[in-house]
Amino acid sequence: MKARQIVDGIYWMGSVDWDRRLFDSLIPLPDGTSYNAYLVRGSRATALLDAVDPAKTHELMEQLADIERIDYIIAHHAEQDHSGALPDVLDRFPDAEVVCTPKCGQMLCELLPVPPNRIKTVADGDTLDLGGRTLRFVHAPWVHWPETMFTYAEEDGILFSCDFLGSHIASSELTALGTADDLAAAKRYYAEIMMPFAVHVVKHLDRLEGLNIRMVCPSHGKVWADPKVITSAYRQWSSGRLANKVCLPFVSMHGSTEVMVDALVDGLIRRRVEVERFELTGTDLGRIAMSLVDSATIVMATPTVLGGVHPVLASVAFVANALRPRAQFVSVMTSYGWAGRAVEQLAALTGNLKAKLIEPVTVKGFPGPRDLETIDGLAEKIAQAHAEAGLSE
Ligand code: FEO
Repeated sequence: MKARQIVDGIYWMGSVDWDRRLFDSLIPLPDGTSYNAYLVRGSRATALLDAVDPAKTHELMEQLADIERIDYIIAHHAEQDHSGALPDVLDRFPDAEVVCTPKCGQMLCELLPVPPNRIKTVADGDTLDLGGRTLRFVHAPWVHWPETMFTYAEEDGILFSCDFLGSHIASSELTALGTADDLAAAKRYYAEIMMPFAVHVVKHLDRLEGLNIRMVCPSHGKVWADPKVITSAYRQWSSGRLANKVCLPFVSMHGSTEVMVDALVDGLIRRRVEVERFELTGTDLGRIAMSLVDSATIVMATPTVLGGVHPVLASVAFVANALRPRAQFVSVMTSYGWAGRAVEQLAALTGNLKAKLIEPVTVKGFPGPRDLETIDGLAEKIAQAHAEAGLSE
């Protein structure tokens, strides 16, 4: 793909990775992704903002083939999907300096490596005059690594936000119009990457209120022509009211757990509580992460395997714990054959959750009528908890 003009003197460069299906050997990418670099020209100097994933270095280098001079390479983030092509860019432009936070400079030297003498560190609020175009650097740690930074192009009102406000989506469209599909891609990205850092997300959103931002150019996915669309969504996902909703991941071996799950689903529906039911052997992890963004309650359901939680559910519990969702309530349903430690094991796996435990339901073998009544009781407790928390209006 060729470079594309955003405004006069500012261009999208990079790579649309249509076929990538997994990130970090973990996160499904059903719609691919993109690695966005940007070229910013002033009358005095030219800056390249970020690079691309190493597998796509050739695409960036083709776009840079006609560029005579790069003075600065702004590195917002040391993660390799944006920095991996840096060594090639530095070879091609031997006078270019890498501009980044001190922490990012250290990490670039360790991860790639970039020669230390090519790095120029900047403090929070520092500016760089390209000639008629001023880049202001905004340190933004923990969205989502400790070294991350934004760049604000002052005269243009454009925020280059790195991973923050991004989306894993491959598209021929450069600009997001705020459609449901645009926001779904952004929510998936938020859930998978930013959710563990919700406190920092809020802090950075607050800081950005002080800038007159007219456009947001993230490092993945589409450019946001209306910044409010994505910043409002981030505000809701990170600190808005949770939904009257249950996220219900489960796995079943011989059907007992599935019967329990369906009984709970019926009980929740009758009480007007939304439920998202995820059968884990066929579920995209990203969809569960999206559900965790705003579900008020998480219920995990599992049979026992060798006396403990089923490994497929254990894996999802581990990821959910790492994502630190804001759920207020949590519970467990388990069916066991001769012994079961699933509840204790799940408690140990989910120590990051600050949710109140609603009494788990444990069934020996196939659930009978009294077990189903107990499960209906769990649905009632969840509905009551949501009502008391003011989530059901
Ligand atoms: Fe897109 Fe954290 O790298």
